[in-house]
Amino acid sequence: MAFWPYPFWFAHRGAGQQAPENTLAAFRVGAAHGFNAFECDVKLSADGVPYLLHDDTLDRTTTGRGAAQAWSWSDLSQLDAGGWLDSAFAGEPPASLAAVAAFCVGTGSALNLELKPCPGQERLTGRSVARWLRRCWPANALPALLSSFEVPALEAARDEAPESPRALLLDQLSEAWLRQALDLDCTAVVVHHPLLSEAFIDQAHAADLKVLSYTVNDATVALRLKSWQVDGLITDAVDRLSATNFTF
Ligand code: G3P
Ligand code: MG
Repeated sequence: MAFWPYPFWFAHRGAGQQAPENTLAAFRVGAAHGFNAFECDVKLSADGVPYLLHDDTLDRTTTGRGAAQAWSWSDLSQLDAGGWLDSAFAGEPPASLAAVAAFCVGTGSALNLELKPCPGQERLTGRSVARWLRRCWPANALPALLSSFEVPALEAARDEAPESPRALLLDQLSEAWLRQALDLDCTAVVVHHPLLSEAFIDQAHAADLKVLSYTVNDATVALRLKSWQVDGLITDAVDRLSATNFTF
């Protein structure tokens, strides 16, 4: 059986609609809503520090401008990654992976790290984050689950730290998904929810793969996926769909 110690509900980008996505403030808000598992997006600064950011550019979610991959961590860490959402969050800095790991380990929370490489850095990002986890993640903590749409990033992570659990993200279904997930020695696939069917989940389970789904913000959809035996859901709706106020 696949190793699967993770909670059912994951807060997306921290709790990235109630608070600035991919910041520690978002993790704190998710935890305040009862979440003990978090998805977030990780990439590398120009000097190789893993930190959280969704986009290739800084403009939407920080006071920085232009391509994220051109910025060193010392410059990134001075940016405001909170004020764009609400002045109440002004001054919230971008989160390093080290800070997020400390939060998750300290609160006993699970972490799904989506490898979100800057263009051309797929293998470097997978290798670097996997190496970081091997060196810095406590052996007695729940292992971080690495996921990505980028097969080369997952390949590099597998080659660097095969013990880190991996999941293949799918935003479309090709014939190749099962072969790819098995070749990457994945524990799970993480699927855009409109693509899912009971037959897909059965097929994944028959291959000893868990199935997560994103981004599920609607109770009706959540109940349908649960009735099909989905193994976990990633949600923005931390105030409505949570471990504490939505039980099956
Ligand atoms: O990991 C699931 C989900 O986060 C993938 O999409 O664009 O929100 O990172 P995105
Ligand atoms: Mg993501």
